[in-house]
Amino acid sequence: MRYSRRGIVALGLAAALIALPACSSSANDDDGGSSGSGDTEVEVFSWWAGPGEKEGLDAMIADFTTKNSGIKFNNAAVAGGAGTNAKTVLATRLQAKNPPDSYQVHAGLELASDIEAGYVEDITYLYDQQGWKEKFPKGLVDAITVDGKIYSVPVNIHRSNLLWFNPATLQKAGISAPPKTWAEFLTQAATLKSKGITALSIGPGWTQEHLLENVLLGELGTDKYTGLWNGSTDWKSAEVTAALTTYTKILGFSDLKSAAADWQPALDKVVDGTAAYNVMGDWADGYLKGAKALKFKTGYDVVATPGSEGVYNFLSDSFTLPVGAPHKGAAEKWLVECGSTEGQDAFNPQKGSVPARTDADKSKYTDYLAAALAEWQNPATKIVGSLAHGVVANNAFKGEIDTALQIFVQDGNVAKFADAVAKAYDANK
Ligand code: GAL
Repeated sequence: MRYSRRGIVALGLAAALIALPACSSSANDDDGGSSGSGDTEVEVFSWWAGPGEKEGLDAMIADFTTKNSGIKFNNAAVAGGAGTNAKTVLATRLQAKNPPDSYQVHAGLELASDIEAGYVEDITYLYDQQGWKEKFPKGLVDAITVDGKIYSVPVNIHRSNLLWFNPATLQKAGISAPPKTWAEFLTQAATLKSKGITALSIGPGWTQEHLLENVLLGELGTDKYTGLWNGSTDWKSAEVTAALTTYTKILGFSDLKSAAADWQPALDKVVDGTAAYNVMGDWADGYLKGAKALKFKTGYDVVATPGSEGVYNFLSDSFTLPVGAPHKGAAEKWLVECGSTEGQDAFNPQKGSVPARTDADKSKYTDYLAAALAEWQNPATKIVGSLAHGVVANNAFKGEIDTALQIFVQDGNVAKFADAVAKAYDANK
C-alpha cells in the first residue's frame, strides 16, 4: 500500500527516539499566525463534547480566541467516545464536499484513506513555517509523514494501556495491589465476584476493542503485538489463540451484558465501587480529576494494564486542513494553535494527555500527568501503537476487526475471530 505501515510499525521503538526533537537546531517560534486572511470564522470538527474531553478543547479555544479575536469559533463537536458518531457524520460531509475548516483525526493509519481520497491538504509548509519538525518527536513526525508530506498537526500523546481503579474498593475487597499479569487479574476477579463486585466495567464496542488491544499487548509482549499489525505475528498461532482465550475469560468477569453507553459511565462504576477496574486511555484522568473532582491516589489511581509495565501504547489526536475548507486562513491559524506550546499546554493538562511537542512547560503536568510525561520521555520506555484509536490499522482493516469483534464478544469463538482478522489483514495490507 502506498501509505506504508513502515513509519507506524517502527513505533516498536524506545521512547528516546520518539521523545527527541527531529532536529536539534533552533526553530521559529510558534506564536505567529500563518497566511493573512480576512476570515471571520472557523468551524472545527471533533468528538470532544462530553465531560473529560470538552474542558481541554474549551481551554484551547479560549487561547485561540484571545490570539485571534476577529475569528468566531464554531465548535462542531459531535458527542460520542472515540469518535464513533463523529466519524460517520464527518465521512458524509467529506463525501459531499462539505468539509469543516479543520477536523480531528488520529495520527497514524487512520488518515490514510482520507489522504488517498484527496480530502486533506499537504500542510508540510506549516511545519516549515512554524519550525515544527524540530519541535515534535522525530518518531512521531516520521509516523505522520506519507510520501514525504505531512497532513495533520498532533496536539497530544495519549496512553491506551491503563488500568484505573478506586483504592477504597480494592481495600474493601482485601486486595493489596492491582494485578501485574492478566492471570493475576483473573484470580482477583474471582475474589471480587465472590464479594459481589464486578471485576471490570466495560462500555460500547470501541471500549471492548480498547480492552482487546491491551490484553494482546500484555499477553504477547511488544514485539509480537507490533507483529499483529505488520504481518509478522500470525493471528492463528497458538500464542494469539491463548491470548484471545484469555480475553474471553476477562470479558466473562465484566459487565458486558449491562455495558455502559460510553466510557464515562463505565468509569462511574469504578468511582461508585460497583466495579473494581476499568481499562481506558488517560482521558480518564481528565474526567476523574475534572468532572468528578477526585484526588489522584486517594479518589482514583492507575497502573499499566497487566503485562505492559514500561510500555506506552500510544495514540495521538491531530487536526487537518481539508481540501476546500471554507475558511482556509482561519483554519491555518487553528492549526498553528494546535501545534503551539501555549495551545498544547492549555489543552493537555485538562485532557489527561501529555504534549506532542517536546518543549512544553513541564510544571503544568502534575499527579498522573507528571508520571506520564516522565514515562513518555524515558528512553527505556517501549512504544507501540493503538488499534482502537487509529495508529496501527487502516480504516478498512480496522472496520473488519470492529465487525468481527462484535460477533466475537457474543459467541467467544476464538478460531473464527482469528481467522476473520487474518483474512482482513491480508485483504487490506
Ligand atoms: C480517543 C481520542 C481521545 C478521547 C477518546 C475518548 O479516540 O483520541 O482524545 O477523546 O477517544 O473519546
